[in-house]
Amino acid sequence: MKEKFYLTTPLYYVNDVPHLGHAYTTIAADVLARHKRAAGCDVHFLTGTDEHGQKVWKAAEQNNLSPQEYVDKIVVRFRDAWDKLGISYDDFIRTTDRKHETAVQKIFGRLLRQGDIYKGEYEGWYCVPCETYWNESDLAEDMEERRLCPDCGRPADRLREETYYFRLSKYQEPLLRHIEANPDFIRPEPRRNEIVQFVKQGLKDLSVTRTAFPWGIVVPEDPRHVVYVWFDALINYVSALGYLSADDGLFRKFWPADVHLMGKEIVRFHAVTWPCLLLALGLPLPKKIFGHGWWTVEGAKMSKSRGNVVDPLALSAEYGVDAVRYFILREVPFGVDGDFSMNSFINRYNADLANDLGNLLSRTLTMVEKYCESQVPSPKSAVMDDLSRELIGLIKETPGLVDKYMDELAFSDALTAIWTLISRANVYIEKQAPWTLAKNGEKERLALVLVNLVEVLTLVTALIAPFMPETAEKIKAQINLSGEKVVKGAPLFPRIQK
Ligand code: MSP
Repeated sequence: MKEKFYLTTPLYYVNDVPHLGHAYTTIAADVLARHKRAAGCDVHFLTGTDEHGQKVWKAAEQNNLSPQEYVDKIVVRFRDAWDKLGISYDDFIRTTDRKHETAVQKIFGRLLRQGDIYKGEYEGWYCVPCETYWNESDLAEDMEERRLCPDCGRPADRLREETYYFRLSKYQEPLLRHIEANPDFIRPEPRRNEIVQFVKQGLKDLSVTRTAFPWGIVVPEDPRHVVYVWFDALINYVSALGYLSADDGLFRKFWPADVHLMGKEIVRFHAVTWPCLLLALGLPLPKKIFGHGWWTVEGAKMSKSRGNVVDPLALSAEYGVDAVRYFILREVPFGVDGDFSMNSFINRYNADLANDLGNLLSRTLTMVEKYCESQVPSPKSAVMDDLSRELIGLIKETPGLVDKYMDELAFSDALTAIWTLISRANVYIEKQAPWTLAKNGEKERLALVLVNLVEVLTLVTALIAPFMPETAEKIKAQINLSGEKVVKGAPLFPRIQK
């Protein structure tokens, strides 16, 4: 039986159109999904949109639309962006889907009946842009005596409302034990340490309903309340699989998730709230929660008010989807913050894609055309030389290395390993000087060199396919192994003139 692999992205708020930050999490998930499929796994890749809550409700109001009209409009932008960026998701969930709403209501009712949810009153602070409750002691104060959210720096609201609480405190010790017994549960290490510290400070029960506005999943037991947007949204990871419905085959097959991917600012919800909720439901916990770093743009925080938001679609329309996919996963190690600049994008594009990869392909095919009438030769009695032996060694070693890095979600290391092979192959060309071999009539040795180069390219094609699916197809068509002759095409990545 095939090994199953279930991975998810966060559900994106539809108060805004997709930007580089959303694309980052989604592309990373897509690369992992494609890699696992290629490795023979039965993959289920879930993404979608987070459509309730006060922030979306306000955005709809500002746009003079009903919340439903508004979310229906924005969701199209997300689907369209993911299509253009080549995202191979298996399912797209919207938190306004009937199936999801039903699951949330059933879960709420069950936890209410078992005493894990109880009625009370919330008095304290709330950040609408982050949809997060804060303690007064968490907040900074500005000159106008406004209380500022420690995450986004914007003023928080003072709330006082009747609410239902979820007994988070009850699950503090079991959660801590789980984190300690499972070193891979929260990754990378700094995220894990932050969460351990946070849990050890003591978990307070969490307010899980709101009454101040109507845009959310109604609590059937008390219809003045709508479910808190995070409590609602987290449940998507099981509702999408049909949990608590008659049609729960996917749930039985794919739960628990193998990895939940997200940015570091929302690890707390995934590594604290979500597991405690699952513990209350008696469900197994996800195997891994990975919090990646944040992108700044030319050194500054990316924000609409600064007007520096990077549009991944504009970038890919100009330089190709694969260049964008490559850059964001190569430039910065996945767990760490990084900076996007046009200069670093162009440098990487020219050096790694136009030069290293592009040249390897075009030089190899040009030589096959020129010296072998476009047919990849098959050497019969070639004598192995040290350079060839070394290259073949690297060909054998690289896939295992890439697999290992992919399992650690070390995308940039995986790409570095592939590019080490590409660079070595380029050096191999220089050192073997096939043009001299041709001039001297050393046919067998020439055939060996060209065959080795084609082998590198074939392997590289397979290894880069999850990262750069279109490019992999183009290279495959040019090498044309299933046909008779190579078909050299246009340059894969025409150089960008600065
Ligand atoms: N709706 C919640 C998630 C609910 S999951 C049950 C949410 N949505 S979001 O629209 O704000 O998108 C969050 C995702 O986009 C996160 O993974 C986040 O890290 C990513 N990014 C948003 N801006 C980013 C950067 N500037 N850099 C990198 N990723 C960032 O949170």
